[in-house]
Amino acid sequence: LQHVPLFQDLAVEELETIAPLFVERKYKKGTILFFEGDIGDEFFLIQSGVVKVYRIDNAKEIILSLFHEGDFFGEMALVQRGLQRSATAETMDNCSIYTLVRSEFYAFMERSPKLCLRLMETTMERLRKANEQIYDLTFLDVRTRIIKTIFKLSEQYGQTKASGTLINIKLTHQQLANLVGTVRESVTKVLQELQEDRIISINKKYISVRNVEALKKLIY
Ligand code: CMP
Repeated sequence: LQHVPLFQDLAVEELETIAPLFVERKYKKGTILFFEGDIGDEFFLIQSGVVKVYRIDNAKEIILSLFHEGDFFGEMALVQRGLQRSATAETMDNCSIYTLVRSEFYAFMERSPKLCLRLMETTMERLRKANEQIYDLTFLDVRTRIIKTIFKLSEQYGQTKASGTLINIKLTHQQLANLVGTVRESVTKVLQELQEDRIISINKKYISVRNVEALKKLIY
């Protein structure tokens, strides 16, 4: 747990108190962890795998965020007592997740100002990203938004390889569209163009950024 950013500043004794309270659970790909509107009674921390948090309207989906190893989620319905889950959470591959029940989460928050500060820091980081998303959705065209999303994914999930930066997360065109807030056809078209210009390459659904400078020039 000491490698998890949320627990970075905690003393060993504090970590030793909280660690046994977490319950480790394995989930298969495509498992709904909770639905928007549910009563929230658990806090989630990812050990491995990717989870998407999204909202749905008339079968259209908008992904609010992707979470991976070391990320936590499900804190909102716990901190805002009485409010329901603000979005649905679903595993995107087989996941191993630590959960903490509401009462333990509270007890620990009350005991540890450092933990509260880290939680606030992450919340502000997420608010900053949400502000950027509002800006992008308002001012950028779809093509630029798709390209920017690929760039951001390469920063977040990128692994340096001889051929460029491999985005180590498998996304279908539809999932990418749901992340950008557009339709699948637009994603397919832009990915095709970027491949033709040799800015990216795609192998077995994994995208590699081959020319990051060219990609950035298309955004900024
Ligand atoms: P909760 O409302 O309990 O359940 C859904 C979770 O998704 C929420 O807690 C947060 O952890 C997470 N979440 C909701 N909206 C966002 C967002 N805009 N950015 C990042 N995470 C979010």
